[in-house]
Amino acid sequence: EARTKIRLCSTDDVDFDSAIRVETEDLVLAVFNIDGVFFVTDDECTHGPGSLSEGYIDGHTVECDFHNGAFDIRTGAVVTPPCMVPVKTYKVVVEDGAVLIET
Ligand code: FES
Repeated sequence: EARTKIRLCSTDDVDFDSAIRVETEDLVLAVFNIDGVFFVTDDECTHGPGSLSEGYIDGHTVECDFHNGAFDIRTGAVVTPPCMVPVKTYKVVVEDGAVLIET
């Protein structure tokens, strides 16, 4: 099965312990740099209209700034309600200073 890599941004585009929003193809994604390690999730909170790239990052947790629900950035698992549904995560590859996902 062929894998597709999609380039999202340069590693320099995302400051340490922050996130940016990236729109590509039909995806709207949050790209996180957690202490130099990159993670990618869907940007939209599974609870409502919150944008996770604008959330508050604490360690490997991102808190949605809408109703303060939170997810584990590494797995997408819900950490704090009112979120109930995990957020989708993507397999990240860093190559030549770029952040890519494999789909
Ligand atoms: Fe994110 Fe409600 S929209 S917690």
